[in-house]
Amino acid sequence: MYRTHTCGELRLADAGQTVTLAGWVQRIRKMGGMTFVDLRDRYGITQLVADAASDEAVAAAVAGLGREYVIQVTGRVAERQSKNPKMDTGDIEILLDKVNVLNPSEIPPFTIEDVSDGGEELRARYRYLDLRRNPLKNALTLRHRMAHEVRNYLDGEGFMEIETPCLIKSTPEGARDFVVPSRMNPGEFYALPQSPQTFKQLLMVAGYDRYFQIVRCFRDEDLRADRQPEFTQIDCEMSFVEQEDVLNLFEGMMRHLFKAVINVDIAPKIPRMSWYDAMDKYGSDKPDIRFGMEIHEVTRLVQGCGFSVFDSVEYVGAIAVPGAAGYTRKQTDELTEWVKRPQVGAKGLVYIKMNEDGTVKSSVDKFYTEDQLKAVAAEAGAKQGDLLLLLCGPKRKTQTMLGVLRIEMGNRLGFRDPKVFAPLWVVDFPLLEWDDETQRFYAMHHPFTAPKPEHIEWFNSNKKEDLERVCANAYDFVLNGTELGGGSIRIHQADVQKRMFEVLGISPEDADYKFGFIINAFKFGAPPHGGLAFGFDRVCALFGGQETIRDYIAFPKNNMGRDVMLDAPSAIDDIQMDELFLKSVAPEKK
Ligand code: AMO
Repeated sequence: MYRTHTCGELRLADAGQTVTLAGWVQRIRKMGGMTFVDLRDRYGITQLVADAASDEAVAAAVAGLGREYVIQVTGRVAERQSKNPKMDTGDIEILLDKVNVLNPSEIPPFTIEDVSDGGEELRARYRYLDLRRNPLKNALTLRHRMAHEVRNYLDGEGFMEIETPCLIKSTPEGARDFVVPSRMNPGEFYALPQSPQTFKQLLMVAGYDRYFQIVRCFRDEDLRADRQPEFTQIDCEMSFVEQEDVLNLFEGMMRHLFKAVINVDIAPKIPRMSWYDAMDKYGSDKPDIRFGMEIHEVTRLVQGCGFSVFDSVEYVGAIAVPGAAGYTRKQTDELTEWVKRPQVGAKGLVYIKMNEDGTVKSSVDKFYTEDQLKAVAAEAGAKQGDLLLLLCGPKRKTQTMLGVLRIEMGNRLGFRDPKVFAPLWVVDFPLLEWDDETQRFYAMHHPFTAPKPEHIEWFNSNKKEDLERVCANAYDFVLNGTELGGGSIRIHQADVQKRMFEVLGISPEDADYKFGFIINAFKFGAPPHGGLAFGFDRVCALFGGQETIRDYIAFPKNNMGRDVMLDAPSAIDDIQMDELFLKSVAPEKK
C-alpha cells in the first residue's frame, strides 16, 4: 500500500498513529538539527519533521530531497508545538521514521505556489506543473463538481445523455470549421462540429425528447479571454415544448448549480429583457445588469442648436456616470482618446459635468444654454455630481459604443464585483441580421431557429423591411455581461426550413447539398422542438469569479490557437501528406 492517508486528511485526533503518506516535496526548511518538509498532494499539505538528534539516517535522507521530488514517508502523527491555523492539517506534523524517494525531480522552471514567479508562456509550456498549483486545482475541481451537478439535475428531469460524432459535415454556426482530410475518401473532408445542433434535432425526430450532452465543440474564430478554439457545451434539446418550458427548466438548472456548487441563492425569477430593450438601454445583447448607468437617447434635445456634429446624425445617446463630475480635463481628454480607439470606434466624446454646486460645465458649452444642458441631464437621469458622456452616429452602432463605454466606466468605478451574480434572459431576438457589405441576410442565431408564428407573414414577404421585423423565440442566458448560453425554438417543418435557406440566399441545390439530411428528416414526423446550449467553460469561470476561461480547461490553447506544451499545430511528414492527398502551399516556417 503506497499510502494510508492523503496529505490533507490528518487531524489532532489522529495523533499517535503511525501513517504512510506519499506526495510531492513543496518546501524544505532547516532549523538547527530539525528539518521541516511540506508534503503536498491533491488533497492538501502535511508537515513532516526529521530530527537529526533522534535519527541520523532519516535526517540524511531528508537532506537529499529537492523541490517536487516524489516521496513516500512513514512516521508518527504528533501534535505541533506551533500550530498553523491557516492549514487544515496545521495542528499536527509527522515525526519521520522512513523516507523513500519514489522519483527525484529536476528543479521546476517556476515556483509551484499559489502566486508563481513563472510567466504565462512558461507555465503553459509546463502545464502539468502549473496544474499542481492550487488556483488551477481549485478551478478543475469546480469544473468537475459542476459537470456532476449538471448531470444530476438533468438526469432528474428525465434527460438522456447521448453522444454525437466529431467527424461530421459542416454545420454553420457563424464561425469557420476545422476540417479533417479523409484518407479513404480522397479529396474529401470532414468538419469538426461547431456544435451538435443538427444531431440534437435529428434525435428529436428520432423521439428522444429530452437530450443533453456535455460535449466538445470546435470553432476556428478569433480568440479572446472567453473563447477557445475547442470548448465545451452543455448542449440540450427538448420536444413538445414552448419557449416558456425551456426557460423554466434551465432557470432551474442554473439555480441548482448556483446553490449546489457555490452556495449562492439567485433571485426566484430571473429577469427577462427583450433584445430591443437590451440594445436600447445597454448597447449590448448581453447586458451587465449589476449596475445602472443605462443609455438614454437625447437626439431630440440636442439637435437644432447649432452644433453641426449632432445635427447631422441619426442618433445621440448619453450615459450618466455617477459621482464623476469631478473628472479633470486630463481625465476627460484621456476618455476621449479611449473612445477613439479602434476597439470602440467613436469619432469623439462630448461631456456634461453636473457639478455638486449646481453649475454645469460641458465640452459643448458654446452651443447650448445651461438650461438645455440640464434638460439633457434630466433625460439621461443624471444627478448633481454626475458626469454625462454623449456619443453620436448611426443608432445601433452608437448604442454599441455607449455599451462598451458603460462597461469600461463600470470597471473603473468598481461596479463589477465578481462575487455579485446578476443573471438575465435576453429574449425576442430578431431572426435575421442584414449585412451591408454582402447585401444579404444572415441568421442572427443559426438557420434552424424558427420565426415567431405571429411573424410568419413577414417571414414569407420578400421586402427587406418586413424580414428585418421578424423575431424569433430565441433566448440567451446572460450573467454579469457574459453570454453563458443561448438557444431557440426550432423550425420543424421542411417547407419553413427551405424558406429559411431561401431568405439566407442559399440556393435550393446548395441547401440540398449541405442540409438535405435535415430537410429530409423533417418529412418523417418531426415533432415541435427547441433547446439551448450553455458554454460550460464560461459557466465554470464565472462561478469561479473569473472572466477568462483558460484556467478552467486542463490543457487550453493560447491566443494564437497553439498548444505550446505539445507545440501544436505542427507540420506533418510527407508520407502522411501523400496518404491524405494533400500538398502544402503554406509559407515556409522561419
Ligand atoms: P452558440 O453558438 O450561442 O449556440 O453557443 C452556445 C454557447 O457556447 C459558448 N461558446 C463558446 N465558449 C468558449 N469558446 C468559444 N469559442 C465559444 N463559442 C460559443 C457560449 C455560447 O453562449 N447550437 C447552438 C445552441 C442552440 O441553439 O441550442 C449554439 O451552439 O457560452
